[in-house]
Amino acid sequence: MEHRALVRLAAPAAAALLALTTACTGTTVQGRPGAAGLRDPYFPKAGNGGYQVDHYALDLDYDPADGLLNATAVITARATQRLSAFNLDLSGLRVGKVTVQGAGARYNRTGNELTVRPAEELREGEVFRTEVEYGGRPGPVTDPDGSEEGWITTGDGAVGVGEPVGSMAWFPGNHHPVDKAAYDITLTVPHGYEAVSNGELRSRTDAGGGRTAFAWHSPEPMASYLATAVVGKYEVTTGRTPSGIAVRNAVAPGEAARSAGPLARLPEVVEWGIGRFGPYPFSTTGAIVLPAGSLGYALETQTRPLFPGAPADEELVVHELAHQWFGDSVSPKSWKDMWLNEGFAVYAEWLWDEDHGRTTAQQRFTAFLAGDTRVDANAGSDWYAFPPADPPTARDISANPVYYRGALVLHRVRQEVGDEKFSALLRDWAAAHRHGNASTADFTAFAEQRTGHDLKKVWDVWLYGTERPR
Ligand code: ARG
Ligand code: ZN
Repeated sequence: MEHRALVRLAAPAAAALLALTTACTGTTVQGRPGAAGLRDPYFPKAGNGGYQVDHYALDLDYDPADGLLNATAVITARATQRLSAFNLDLSGLRVGKVTVQGAGARYNRTGNELTVRPAEELREGEVFRTEVEYGGRPGPVTDPDGSEEGWITTGDGAVGVGEPVGSMAWFPGNHHPVDKAAYDITLTVPHGYEAVSNGELRSRTDAGGGRTAFAWHSPEPMASYLATAVVGKYEVTTGRTPSGIAVRNAVAPGEAARSAGPLARLPEVVEWGIGRFGPYPFSTTGAIVLPAGSLGYALETQTRPLFPGAPADEELVVHELAHQWFGDSVSPKSWKDMWLNEGFAVYAEWLWDEDHGRTTAQQRFTAFLAGDTRVDANAGSDWYAFPPADPPTARDISANPVYYRGALVLHRVRQEVGDEKFSALLRDWAAAHRHGNASTADFTAFAEQRTGHDLKKVWDVWLYGTERPR
């Protein structure tokens, strides 16, 4: 009897002890998997938790004739927690082999998540190297607004584009703008093709088997949506801006004549941007003009924006180059903060025109309020339809209000603080978050602190208000 009583009393204590032991091993002895997404308001699965990437080395061997990619990604990252497993974002393609720190790792795939389980857990703070062999026929990703990104064929070649979540269609990674890294992208293509990417061309070598390897190096941090890989028949020209920044353009032959005018202004646009926004954030610049119609939009790929055919006008060149400061160097903390990219790039176009003795930003402001399309064709759009700081759905992050009402927010700030403080604000903002990330709240706080003005009414009406401003 006594014995049984003892057992009865001891059982709950033993269970509690067992639970405690499990809890301890769960948190302090064993690692846990990194999160499968970074909970972006519009793309919750984009990016992954538990690590941050320092460097991507991508080796992409691509044959335009059959559209086959044979690739290796070496990802050097730092664990931000003890990790039993972690995810990479990858859409489509076939994964051959994965190693972590040189040892074979188990992996599995669900949707766009590649989960890697290293043979040995990774310590918090550990810098580790993951190598993924993968390949297949990459394809496009249709984004929520119906546009296509990912891997897009262009007739005699292809282009890899990322905004917002297309990069996962051509390389595994931490595909959210908050995780920026340096890149080395080597593109191996058949003789006769050019292969262009971001940054500096380090070497162009014979890779054997009738192929050429183009090694591109991007030392400055880059969000993965700004990486690009372009393969095809291109005419490449090089030069320097007046202050010495290396320029490299690649133009689809059919677009050469019509591109000549707008691209001739590119060096001058970069220098104008330096005067307006402060030091150019990268070591190289240029443009890539794709065959007309191959992409539905221009894109501010880092150091070397993409144009789908010859840029229609110099303002488009100004727009994509302005993104190098606003979007590429200062990147959004989430896809909700897109107006910090697009509102600023549109406002740069308005400043360019104003600085060249054409329409002033104030004239555009008046035209938008009046819907006067003679001054600006976009004044007749639904630019007011929602507050730029709060696109209603993922479908709206590249919609008119993000661009034009976003630009009008900046003009309202300028009206409140005056030209001098406003110009300083743009430069200081670019400097404060150079090669980093920022949110709308970061901007509103910064603008008020930097100018000494209370701008609450501007934010309430123009940035967050649901009514059409008047
Ligand atoms: N960021 C590009 C630009 O304004 C446009 C990208 C459009 N993408 C889209 N899904 N609508 O320069
Ligand atoms: Zn833009």
